[in-house]
Amino acid sequence: MTILGNDDWWRDAVVYQVYPRSFADADGDGTGDLQGVRSRLPYLKALGVDAIWLSPFYTSPLADGGYDVADYRDVDPRFGSLGDFDQMIGDAHGLGIRVIVDLVPNHSSDAHPRFQAALAAGPGSPERDWYMFGEGLGESGELPPNDWESIFGGPAWTRLPDGQWYLHLFAPEQPDLNWENPEVRAEFRDILTFWLDRGVDGFRVDVAHGMIKAEGLPSVGRSSDEDGRQAEMLGDELVPYFDQDGVHDIYREWRPILDSYPGGRIGVAEAWVATPERLARYIGTEELHQAFNFDFMMADFHAKSFRTVIDRSLAEAELVGAPTTWVLSNHDKWRHVTRYGDGETGLRRARAATLLMLALPGSAYLYNGEELGLPEVLDLPDELREDPAFLRTGESRDGCRVPLPWGGTVTEGFRFGPTGAARPWLPQPASWELLTADAQEDAPDSTLNLYRTALRIRREHPALGGGQVKWLDSPEDVLVIAREPGLVVVVNISDSPVTPAEFGLTGEPLVSSGPLGADGSIPADTALWLAV
Ligand code: GLC
Repeated sequence: MTILGNDDWWRDAVVYQVYPRSFADADGDGTGDLQGVRSRLPYLKALGVDAIWLSPFYTSPLADGGYDVADYRDVDPRFGSLGDFDQMIGDAHGLGIRVIVDLVPNHSSDAHPRFQAALAAGPGSPERDWYMFGEGLGESGELPPNDWESIFGGPAWTRLPDGQWYLHLFAPEQPDLNWENPEVRAEFRDILTFWLDRGVDGFRVDVAHGMIKAEGLPSVGRSSDEDGRQAEMLGDELVPYFDQDGVHDIYREWRPILDSYPGGRIGVAEAWVATPERLARYIGTEELHQAFNFDFMMADFHAKSFRTVIDRSLAEAELVGAPTTWVLSNHDKWRHVTRYGDGETGLRRARAATLLMLALPGSAYLYNGEELGLPEVLDLPDELREDPAFLRTGESRDGCRVPLPWGGTVTEGFRFGPTGAARPWLPQPASWELLTADAQEDAPDSTLNLYRTALRIRREHPALGGGQVKWLDSPEDVLVIAREPGLVVVVNISDSPVTPAEFGLTGEPLVSSGPLGADGSIPADTALWLAV
């Protein structure tokens, strides 16, 4: 079943990112799975999201949590089967929840049959032309073909026993595909069709800025040792392996495929590029529908940084005639509770930032567990960390991938799996007992209920997902935004309480991210939606 009716659903959709490995474990092996997702769809319906985006669940050695795909048309047995996928998407659509899947086109797994065939076939073969193989520099080719560095640290090239090198912008287990090869392009058009035929509502395109490399693979001329990272994720310098003009041809090939299906099938770009202007080039009627707005996620909890990013993002949206997206957390960054200071302060700020985000025009992406106010787990034992970046850079993304706490106690794995299940694949902190979904269910002030209330109000006021942002006069540390007629959002980022009356506002509080003062004042680090 496909959800028909509104092809523009994505413009103001609230999309919930599921990291399948860590969401819910139906078969009790300690790893989340698609039946686990299916079993929690009623929870997501009650939360009030419009769509889910699933991080990769495809066949994979999980060298990078599944962003190393060995079969793009099948489900890894740890996550279930294609039959489980069909049941999950059928139930989701039955509940009116759309489903976006992750597409990983920049690289495959080294276990992919095409890479294995390339290794076996040897230099100069058509099989090697599926990937980026090259000869090394130096007298006997002992140096890599250029100075490119992996995003996970170390050189982006690995040498094979036969002397050739292959490119991997990420881990060595993730060889880059050669998008200059028409067969690679045809393969991915076919993969798109495979999942569209199975009913998916869209694709989140992984490393959407990566597939095309500059002609001749020129060196960058700068290494991380000299100047931080070689490729800053949001730096303003173009590197020869990211954001090349040629990537846009790929999206122009894909768009007619998406458009040929009914119901509004979309593409959303994960593109870390220098400026909102460059990001805007990925979006529009001929390319993808949306791109993640990472500037918002990376902004400090400061009135000025939020305001600057919001203005820039809206200007960019205007440029392409498509609404922007907002995101505060995902599977690659520290959860926003922790980024904003951790502990009580972090949680208070995270809740305020969420209310700000959900009042902005465009679509919002939530990351599983943020509705429970989960912090980053910072004290995982090193030997349990699985992020391939950890060994190379000391930075680890495991702390935001800890299995979700649904109920009960830590000895029960917080009911991540059924009774008697194996321990969750990463250990959960005992302190999460107060943060489980069950513990928050009936607590009116819980973060879970804050999200539910905000999403309900957003549904009741469809205009909140669109329209303009009008900044009202306010002190420097307070954001006051007039939204659809009748709704004002106040975010108090200053150290002391403010009252709406100070800005000439009177009205009914609809929802606030924390308790208001007895006099209706908004405490520090608190946001309020006011009906005026
Ligand atoms: C994207 C994913 C990240 C992954 C990388 C390589 O940035 O979000 O998790 O490690 O691509 O596929």
